[in-house]
Amino acid sequence: MSTEDAVTGRVVFVGAGPGDPDLITVRGLRELQQAQVILYDNLIDESLLEGLAAEQIYVGKEGDRHSLPQAELSQRLVELAKQGKRVVRLKGGDPSVFGRLAQEALVVAEQGIPFEIVPGVTSCVAGPAYAGIPVTHRGVADHFSVVTVHQSSDTTVFSIPPYNAKNTVVLMMSLGSVDAWQKQMLEMKYPAKLPVALITRAASATQRVLVTCLDEVDRAVAEASLESPTLAVVGKVVALREKLSWFDPALMASLDPEATTE
Ligand SMILES: C[S@@+](CC[C@H](N)C(=O)[O-])C[C@H]1O[C@@H](n2cnc3c(N)ncnc32)[C@H](O)[C@@H]1O
Repeated sequence: MSTEDAVTGRVVFVGAGPGDPDLITVRGLRELQQAQVILYDNLIDESLLEGLAAEQIYVGKEGDRHSLPQAELSQRLVELAKQGKRVVRLKGGDPSVFGRLAQEALVVAEQGIPFEIVPGVTSCVAGPAYAGIPVTHRGVADHFSVVTVHQSSDTTVFSIPPYNAKNTVVLMMSLGSVDAWQKQMLEMKYPAKLPVALITRAASATQRVLVTCLDEVDRAVAEASLESPTLAVVGKVVALREKLSWFDPALMASLDPEATTE
């Protein structure tokens, strides 16, 4: 710890990984153990926080628990660090992938607070992997795109790339807008029978994977009544799941008596 750090605290943005709390990095876990205050989101498996000495503050944006508005949250990070505290801002997956990292880090940086970023395993790659779907595969997919399809009042068209047979498209925050992204992809001439996998609560004891195709995805999702968090994988690599499916949520549930399966 430098002299500067001893006077002012610091903020460490840590990625927790998706689902299984074991997916946090060694470095991330060390930061949690050394933290004095941890501010954490709703996608965090709370078993990750058990037994830690740090004060723990929930700042998630879902559910009926109270959550801070973004500006207040960033200001809270600054105030805690100015009190000399070692603050961990714990986010699901990787903090820099649709994790509002920049909104918070910019405020912290503007105030001259030292900060670090500890990357995490992101659900956009790990989620498919837990479903037996590698996002690239030689000869099948030589690139992948990660797109938010979160529908807000100012979003009418998503940033979905033009169709390329060798691209895998991962759609994040995909559940609330299935009809809209399906329509847009079909209008963009994505093939109607292109395989689609919807992966819910990846890497957890309640993981679900629904495989369908683009022109049937709206009906399949309605019938399956999936829940958040869910991501969608669109592309030929989805077919690999037939041979590469490896993760057994029921087995994980049996190892964790507190987890429930459907
Ligand atoms: C606000 S984004 C945060 C992404 C996160 N920073 C990451 O790197 O994974 C939330 C979206 O990520 C996806 N997601 C996060 N965790 C997931 C999981 N365990 N299973 C499936 N999708 C997940 C879902 O699409 C969800 O709507």
